[in-house]
Amino acid sequence: MSQSATFSNRLIQWQRQHGRHHLPWQVKDPYAVWLSEIMLQQTQVATVLDYYPRFLNRFPDVESLANAAEDEVLSLWAGLGYYSRARNLRKAAKQVVAQFSGEFPQTRLELETLCGVGRSTAAAISAFAFNQRETILDGNVKRVLCRVYALDGNPQDKKFEKQLWQLAESLLPSESGDIPAYIQGLMDLGATVCKRTKPLCHECPMNDICEAKKQNRIAELPRKKTAVEVHTLPLYWLIVRNQAKQILLHKRPAKGIWGGLYCVPCFENLADLQQYAQVLNLDSDGLNEEATFTHHLTHRLLMITPFTTDERPSENVSDGLWVAQEDLADYGLPKPLLNYLNQAQKSLF
Ligand code: ADE
Repeated sequence: MSQSATFSNRLIQWQRQHGRHHLPWQVKDPYAVWLSEIMLQQTQVATVLDYYPRFLNRFPDVESLANAAEDEVLSLWAGLGYYSRARNLRKAAKQVVAQFSGEFPQTRLELETLCGVGRSTAAAISAFAFNQRETILDGNVKRVLCRVYALDGNPQDKKFEKQLWQLAESLLPSESGDIPAYIQGLMDLGATVCKRTKPLCHECPMNDICEAKKQNRIAELPRKKTAVEVHTLPLYWLIVRNQAKQILLHKRPAKGIWGGLYCVPCFENLADLQQYAQVLNLDSDGLNEEATFTHHLTHRLLMITPFTTDERPSENVSDGLWVAQEDLADYGLPKPLLNYLNQAQKSLF
């Protein structure tokens, strides 16, 4: 048997016996598969298991999502992070309705024309929903391939990535009926056995053909990515309530941190916060500086300092929205803000 057939046969057998079979998105509906793949792009399975059913319940098909208001989509996404995914999801739903008569296209190349759908995501949808012979290549699959074939290229290098795509394509099984189990097997092996740290080699169906294992290089492969630099960013929040104890929220710009979510007025320096307080006719001496806390994002360490005030602004605010405490959950709020408001609730409201 050829080396590639050994790899795919073993992976399919292993997936059928030991892989994951009860994930709620293991269905043939391309809409449900697409939604799950977008959620799973930068988020762990356990978290997606919580968000996915709520989202699917509210937007059960592509038409309902295409007709949705962006704010409602974002409110169901709040806490998942990478909010451009939610905005692209709605845009892609509109594309499916307008350009494909509401039916998802079946080929990887057509799926790649949808907003937010890259090659690997398109391949996963076409493989799971339509049994197309397409391979995925995410971080988990790269790790499996680098180990089984002892490849020590830099995973961030474009040329090396191209080689990995070619290798992954060459390993695809020939029978289209085997494709879903094979692709799920790639995902399952990387997630549950060939883990980044402490891989379970004794449970691996590839353990006697794995070159990294033979060469005792499991810990060293794949080569580590160069660490991303994490910048510290101070943020200042202005927490203002009106007579009705509603809280002032602004919709954040689409680009940047918490893009499109609702947040209290938020500034990168104190002078801007004070200037805005003046616009609201708030006395800057009456602002209370609360304890600073940190919040980690992928490339940023946020140092957040909330300011509260007992004053009620006399000015009508034209660019914001007043929301009652009990309605905050209906808006997409950044996780650290929702946590802060819930925890500060007793003193604030
Ligand atoms: N990660 C990305 N896609 C996945 C899927 N379909 N099942 C489990 N984990 C995944």
